[in-house]
Amino acid sequence: MELKIIGGTVVTAEKSFRADVGIQDGKITRIATSLADQPGETIDATGQYILPGGIDVHTHFELPFGGTVSPDDFFTGTVAAACGGTTTILDFAVQSKGQGLKEGLESWQEKARDKAVIDYGFHMAITDFNRQVVDDMEAMMESGVTSFKLFMAYKNIFMVDDETLFRSFLKAKELGGLVMVHAENGGLIDLLTNKLLAEGKTQPMYHALSRPPELEEEATSRAIILARLAEAPLYVVHLSYRGAMRRVKKARANQQPVLAETCPHYLMLSIENYSEPDFAGAKYVMSPPLRGKHNQAYLWKNLAEGHLQVVSSDHCSFNLKGQKDLGRDDFSRIPNGVPGVETRLFILYSEGVRHKKITLERLVDVWATSPAKIFGLYPQKGVIAEGSDADLVIFNPNKKFVLQSAKLHQNVDYCPYEGLEVKGAISRVLSRGKVIVKENSFSGRRGAGQFLRRRKFKPSESILAEK
Ligand code: URP
Ligand code: ZN
Ligand code: ZN
Repeated sequence: MELKIIGGTVVTAEKSFRADVGIQDGKITRIATSLADQPGETIDATGQYILPGGIDVHTHFELPFGGTVSPDDFFTGTVAAACGGTTTILDFAVQSKGQGLKEGLESWQEKARDKAVIDYGFHMAITDFNRQVVDDMEAMMESGVTSFKLFMAYKNIFMVDDETLFRSFLKAKELGGLVMVHAENGGLIDLLTNKLLAEGKTQPMYHALSRPPELEEEATSRAIILARLAEAPLYVVHLSYRGAMRRVKKARANQQPVLAETCPHYLMLSIENYSEPDFAGAKYVMSPPLRGKHNQAYLWKNLAEGHLQVVSSDHCSFNLKGQKDLGRDDFSRIPNGVPGVETRLFILYSEGVRHKKITLERLVDVWATSPAKIFGLYPQKGVIAEGSDADLVIFNPNKKFVLQSAKLHQNVDYCPYEGLEVKGAISRVLSRGKVIVKENSFSGRRGAGQFLRRRKFKPSESILAEK
């Protein structure tokens, strides 16, 4: 074998066990008690965990938004992902209004080509259900783009009406695709935004007040009902609020195939962050917005119990200087999004596992295994098993790491968790058997990432079952 990792503890979504891992031609070829006497280069992982490389199914690299573009492109964004232990990302290609989906996909393929350093795939965001879209959805499925995002918010930008959402459910169901929704009531948010601005309420805090949690709950409930009528599966992205969580749980209890993700910022930060002085609250302007602190424990509990299946980053970085400050006098002009592609594992481990909110196996599940299963990549990705891609993280649980913008690789001028000391650090990251990160230093190759053609959505017992 070319390479063996010895002495570590292998962690899967089911169990943790002492084993050595052998690698050949980019694949895991052996998992055995001892491979020490086998030929090949050796990495000693004694006292460390061997985790599957992370799968981040929600990133926005080079996304045009609010008259500016998110500055992490497919090079800087995937380098940052890799340094945070993520070895696969799924980004959102977006349809321009009046165009087909194919043009949107081509444009995002172009952004990624020769830049991505880790494997990548796309979801397709439908913003305009014109005649072309029906044919193009079929073409997307054939190209391995098997999930579609629809925005129930961002009026006049990405928002679709209920008819479009329903048509998309019907077509996705027919094709074996999965519809993902951004669930907020965009019409009412627009109305509340205009009212607040007319009253002279322009500060970042009003971003949260213009998007009350009930409008997330209402849209989540509406999406669940439309999906049920269409008999289609549904994936709710970036769920932030306990009321929305309850709607998802109820649907799942009724055996409806509804899946949901949350993001580290909803587990860690709260509405109080918007009050930070000197416009610093703008750092946290993302949608849905941060919620009351009491939601955090509820989201952790639902992650632990399996009602939430995925933690994604929703990485959409905008600099404070020159981008977020476009909205200094009007919160609605602050581009929406927060960086996080590099910090997901640190938060999940340090705040989740160390504080006993989730088990280590559950971390692996929400970080890699369930994302791979839901988005048609399993068992090539998301698991440590013979025959799978050798996408691995060697993680030292005893080292400390301080989250600081200056140490991170994300191309943005702040970190939402600046100064937070986390327990656990990444020693090595391997992508298809090659070491691409060593002690926070990237050593991979620009353009080495491969486009992943994903399979159709397959609802399975394991995805619907509670943990
Ligand atoms: O604020 C956010 N989440 N920005 C990215 C676009 C989206 O809604 O996912
Ligand atoms: Zn969204
Ligand atoms: Zn997003």
